[in-house]
Amino acid sequence: MASMAFQVFAAILLFSFLASVLSVTNGSGDVAFDVNYSISWGADHVVSLNQGSEIHLTMDSNSGSGFQSKLEYGSGFFHVNLKTPSRDTAGTVTAFYLTSHTNAHDELDFEFLGNLEGKPITLQTNVFVNGKGGREERINLWFDPSQDFHSYKILWNRNLIVFFVDDTPIRVFLNKSNKGVDYPTQPMQVIASLWNGENWATDGGKIKIDWRYAPFVASFRGFSIDGCPANGHGTQQCSLPKYWWNTGTYTSLSATQKIAYQQVRRKYLTYDYCSDRARYHVLPPECPQLSS
Ligand SMILES: *[C@@H]1O[C@H](CO)[C@@H](O)[C@H](O)[C@H]1NC(C)=O
Ligand SMILES: *[C@@H]1O[C@H](CO)[C@@H](O)[C@H](O)[C@H]1NC(C)=O
Ligand SMILES: *[C@@H]1O[C@H](CO)[C@@H](O)[C@H](O)[C@H]1NC(C)=O
Repeated sequence: MASMAFQVFAAILLFSFLASVLSVTNGSGDVAFDVNYSISWGADHVVSLNQGSEIHLTMDSNSGSGFQSKLEYGSGFFHVNLKTPSRDTAGTVTAFYLTSHTNAHDELDFEFLGNLEGKPITLQTNVFVNGKGGREERINLWFDPSQDFHSYKILWNRNLIVFFVDDTPIRVFLNKSNKGVDYPTQPMQVIASLWNGENWATDGGKIKIDWRYAPFVASFRGFSIDGCPANGHGTQQCSLPKYWWNTGTYTSLSATQKIAYQQVRRKYLTYDYCSDRARYHVLPPECPQLSS
């Protein structure tokens, strides 16, 4: 028994040693949380695991929490692996987004809207340009985002913005500035947060947070950043081809990606502002984004 316990102990030591080495960089370009991010809000509600290879944002009735990139970016392919809170999460919002800190701000959002246990968590995306949003789209995912880590990515270059779930494009916002559509140009920071959205998130705000299920926990991994730092200067040099996300296959959807995108929209889209005629009697000029 004693030797068994020792072996387990030795294995744990070896494991934590490996974990600490791997957390700096694990060979796939992944880095520890601290390298490019810092906690922005609710520090006593944030838990760091395995030397920063995983971060838990938690929320109880006192506070939610969040983290943000240390730098702002002018283009990039931003990603994180995350798992939303589970069980009864109605009223909670788990967000991963880019935003500029200006009055007329640009913003690109992934927002997971919690729900009663057993009901689907909605993934809402939105695009703000020069302070103007109102471009919500909603999908019910083909998996339960509270059960496993999945990757959520935002590609942003001068040609297009694409939101990906794992490798499936779920939303596209094209640069149609030649048709008079505004397109994000301001340096943006990468942010993740878990917050109280009970006044709007679930069933239009009718279902509130049930604090008996607190603390809510959203888990994050994968803290490397593929972005063009834009602090202190504009985003002009961020469109140069020296950044891989500005070139080749990243400048448009491939035929295969278009098929996957159309399929997601046919099967999983539950709301698209571009087809909300009650809200927009005249549809915004960017609609529709890609014709079928
Ligand atoms: C590095 O970490 C990422 C994210 O956790 C994982 O997907 C990848 O397989 C890891 N790579 C190696 C070489 O361990
Ligand atoms: C990540 O952080 C390191 C260390 O501060 C910095 O050198 C690097 O430029 C950052 N990378 C990005 C893409 O921001
Ligand atoms: C949008 O595309 C036009 C070319 O059609 C280009 O001149 C402009 O710089 C692009 N806008 C941004 C913000 O990259």
